[in-house]
Amino acid sequence: MSHSSVPSPATARKSENLSGTIRVPGDKSISHRSLMFGGLASGETLISGLLEGEDVLATGRAMEAMGAKVSREGGRWRVVGTGNGALLEPNETLDFGNAGTGCRLTMGLVGPYHMTTRFVGDASLSRRPMKRVLDPLRQMGVAVEAEAGDRLPVTLRGPKSPAPITYRVPVASAQVKSAVLLAGLNVPGVTTVVEPVMTRDHTEKMLAGFGATLEVEEDADGVRTIRLEGQPELAGRTIDVPGDPSSAAFPLVAGLIVPGADIVIENVLMNPTRTGLITTLQEMGGQIDIVNWRDAGGEDVADLQVRFSDLKGITVPPQRAPSMIDEYPVLAVAAAFAEGETVMDGLDELRVKESDRLAAVARGLERNGVDCTEGEASLTVRGAPGGRGLGGGTVETHLDHRIAMAFLVLGLATEKPVEIDDSNMVATSFPQFFDLMGELGAEIELSAARDGAKS
Ligand code: S3P
Repeated sequence: MSHSSVPSPATARKSENLSGTIRVPGDKSISHRSLMFGGLASGETLISGLLEGEDVLATGRAMEAMGAKVSREGGRWRVVGTGNGALLEPNETLDFGNAGTGCRLTMGLVGPYHMTTRFVGDASLSRRPMKRVLDPLRQMGVAVEAEAGDRLPVTLRGPKSPAPITYRVPVASAQVKSAVLLAGLNVPGVTTVVEPVMTRDHTEKMLAGFGATLEVEEDADGVRTIRLEGQPELAGRTIDVPGDPSSAAFPLVAGLIVPGADIVIENVLMNPTRTGLITTLQEMGGQIDIVNWRDAGGEDVADLQVRFSDLKGITVPPQRAPSMIDEYPVLAVAAAFAEGETVMDGLDELRVKESDRLAAVARGLERNGVDCTEGEASLTVRGAPGGRGLGGGTVETHLDHRIAMAFLVLGLATEKPVEIDDSNMVATSFPQFFDLMGELGAEIELSAARDGAKS
């Protein structure tokens, strides 16, 4: 685990007139996949805009442990892969720290290899369910050793002859879909994934870009069937990682709730499987202009111009959840300033993220005087426009980067400051968060311990 285990609190205070233009770091999902697929393909992959967060770096180290060469050269990352099917048995345990995506996708990638691989992670990752990925691997013939309830540490032993499967993904999860497809890369024959609800499609798009043969069919009900031909040759390529909409979400909401704010967030990925938050905030009355829409290496990107807005509560359609699954904590923060009630439903998956995000958000809001109701899979927030009477509480972040950042954004517009118990985990996905928010004029104060560590 590379992040500090000494908690580092931080406090956000009421701010005004946020202004300026920023660029958020590269998309986390695409960054993980760039290192993985680059490490697997033959030849060289050059990556610019890679997210240099702890989660992604853990994936890079795992690929190195299995024979890929990963180096930072100039502003870019250079990966020389082993060639598909030629990963080596790692001599060391693969430690994914806080990173669910890195861990679950790598389990899929190496599962069918006839070798032994051991996976560990931090306290948060060790609590998260791995059964969703281990079940399809077992069907392919992989032997699994795991802690009770299919938790980490996990050891995988691949079979001599893995078998292709057809797998219907039981939860809306891009990680599960991706793990099965990546396993299929090293299995003869066609691996089929049926996805009843569409989730982010970076694996499908990027694998095709690296030379894999995939067929995607969608029926009238939106059920997708993805067929991947096993054992393809993959070849290295050049990748420019667009800005992460899930990181842009924090300055975006800050721009809507801080009086007088007028900011621009450049180069944000606009893949429709990722833009649910923007649609929702626009429906709430948020002034978000999407400008300079362009194509960047097969993905749409755009700049977001965001201005302080009078928000109104809405009911968020539950079927939108997969396209904004990581954004509910910060949407709940926006809802705290909206007139009326915001109803969010279909949130079962929030219970198994880096923390139980549904409970963590509800407790954090309550501590800061926000009126909300937590249901089994829903959250209703009754807002206080202007943030009157809100704030003054300390939020428990439970090793969850998005809980930390969401509640710091809350404190930028509440009457009283908002404190979080630990800001260390922010570095897993958005290491520049404090600097960029400071550039916009946000008043966020780090504890002395963290300042000391930085200097
Ligand atoms: C991710 C998928 C999502 C998301 C995570 C990144 C990915 O997880 O929450 O941050 O890159 O595939 P689930 O598949 O568990 O929904």
